[in-house]
Amino acid sequence: MDKSILLYYFSGTGNSRRLTEVAAKRFEEVGFKAKIRNIEEKGLAEGHNDYSCYGFIFPVHFRGIPHIMTKFMAALPLETGKEAFIIVSMGNIGYGISPSQGKCLGQGKSILEGRGYKVVGGHAVTMPNNFIALVGASTPEMAAPVIEAGEKAVGEFIEKIIDGEFYMEKTHWPTKLMGITTNPLFLYGRKYVSSFFRLDDRCDSCGICAKICPVGNIEMVNGRPEWGRGCESCFRCINLCPKEAIQCTFIGRTEKRRRYKEPHLKVKDLMRE
Ligand SMILES: Cc1cc2nc3c(=O)[nH]c(=O)nc-3n(C[C@H](O)[C@H](O)[C@H](O)COP(=O)(O)O)c2cc1C
Repeated sequence: MDKSILLYYFSGTGNSRRLTEVAAKRFEEVGFKAKIRNIEEKGLAEGHNDYSCYGFIFPVHFRGIPHIMTKFMAALPLETGKEAFIIVSMGNIGYGISPSQGKCLGQGKSILEGRGYKVVGGHAVTMPNNFIALVGASTPEMAAPVIEAGEKAVGEFIEKIIDGEFYMEKTHWPTKLMGITTNPLFLYGRKYVSSFFRLDDRCDSCGICAKICPVGNIEMVNGRPEWGRGCESCFRCINLCPKEAIQCTFIGRTEKRRRYKEPHLKVKDLMRE
């Protein structure tokens, strides 16, 4: 089979990015051409139409697709029958709370079909949790096997795509229902999430938060970051601040919570001038 794959991803703290890299490597191992594109770079990848299959990889945010990815997918040029697949990265919180992709797969499938793509697969993969407003990250020792299992799950899913086997994971109705009912509230509320953010005295005005915000929603004013009303609610700024100086009081306080960064992610790769 002769295939060229374009993988579009959004990733707050590196999990979805890592899964994208693993998927690309798996395609390349069997001789396919695979290109990776971060959707933060704005617009379509060069030669968008030249590919035969498209992957969309992103985290679940409150049981739905992150707003930035929904917007990107909904604005894709109309296609006729080109193949597409979806990979959702979910968060393993622990404490007996199951990761849940909510309505992501169904939502993604219907947006992509609306743009004329033929959706040939979808899979939700468990990775470490980055939702620090709810709970702190697990230790690196606890996160490592979760990442390893996530990479393996993506490798197996990509093999199905390579073999031409249609595989759309079934979503259980309670999680889908949660997505349908609660996600619209989150989509409205996410713009205001940064109202719960504040700085502590460890902030040394380095400006990294402003440089790495995926939607450019942070502005440095007199050496202090200020958040606008366009927050994507990915929690990258809180998780990746080198001084752990950004706090949030939402569901409990973040002061003592461990931050999360997928180990392969380098903060400097996210910086924009
Ligand atoms: C605002 C927000 C909401 C989240 N909601 C969910 C959820 O509904 N279900 C879930 O399993 N994980 C949820 N998570 C966890 C992330 O989806 C998960 O950790 C993901 O792997 C992060 O990927 P990334 O590093 O590519 O951003 C949420 C994270 C954030 C920041």
